[in-house]
Amino acid sequence: MNEVSSVAIRCFDARDTEAVVGLWQDAFPEYRDPTRPQRNPHLSIANKLATQPELFFVATRDTRIVGTVMAGYDGHRGWMYSLAVDASARRHGIGTQLVAHAERALIARGCPKVNLQVLSAKAEVQAFYEALGYRADAVISLGKRLDGAALESTA
Ligand SMILES: CC(C)(COP(=O)(O)OP(=O)(O)OC[C@H]1O[C@@H](n2cnc3c(N)ncnc32)[C@H](O)[C@@H]1OP(=O)(O)O)[C@@H](O)C(=O)NCCC(=O)NCCS
Repeated sequence: MNEVSSVAIRCFDARDTEAVVGLWQDAFPEYRDPTRPQRNPHLSIANKLATQPELFFVATRDTRIVGTVMAGYDGHRGWMYSLAVDASARRHGIGTQLVAHAERALIARGCPKVNLQVLSAKAEVQAFYEALGYRADAVISLGKRLDGAALESTA
């Protein structure tokens, strides 16, 4: 467990599910959008528990879940998803700690580079990642749904 001030970071536990879903529904409005049923937080959690669950982390403060991050390593690149900090706990370095924790877990697996996607409308999230040393790659992000759902954003 990585502990900095009063925040602790540990692996997700199934008992965290409802707290994490609530946090995500506040941090990611698309999780409340009935026109996007493929954005199902319970399914996202179930899928992650089936694939590298040891790379799914939560930040807690006084046992309350205040942040999440998911990472994955496919043998070539690492990816980071679902970084979220409770609105009442932002700008206290918790997002930074979560990213650093996920980076260390990827490095420990031999991962040489981590990629992530940020919606282009989210300038404040781009500012957050730039503050942590991330830079835009000269690529366009392509995606294709494989589950038959209507194509919207695949990010
Ligand atoms: C992005 C997010 C995780 C950042 O978490 P956080 O705990 O507030 O981040 P930190 O406190 O570690 O911020 C570190 C630095 O990033 C930058 N930063 C963070 N939030 C910022 C904002 N809204 N605007 C501009 N810069 C910001 C600042 O440089 C900050 O340092 P400072 O507070 O000393 O100025 C949080 O805002 C969040 O959950 N957003 C909603 C969910 C989301 O969009 N997630 C990203 C998915 S790709």
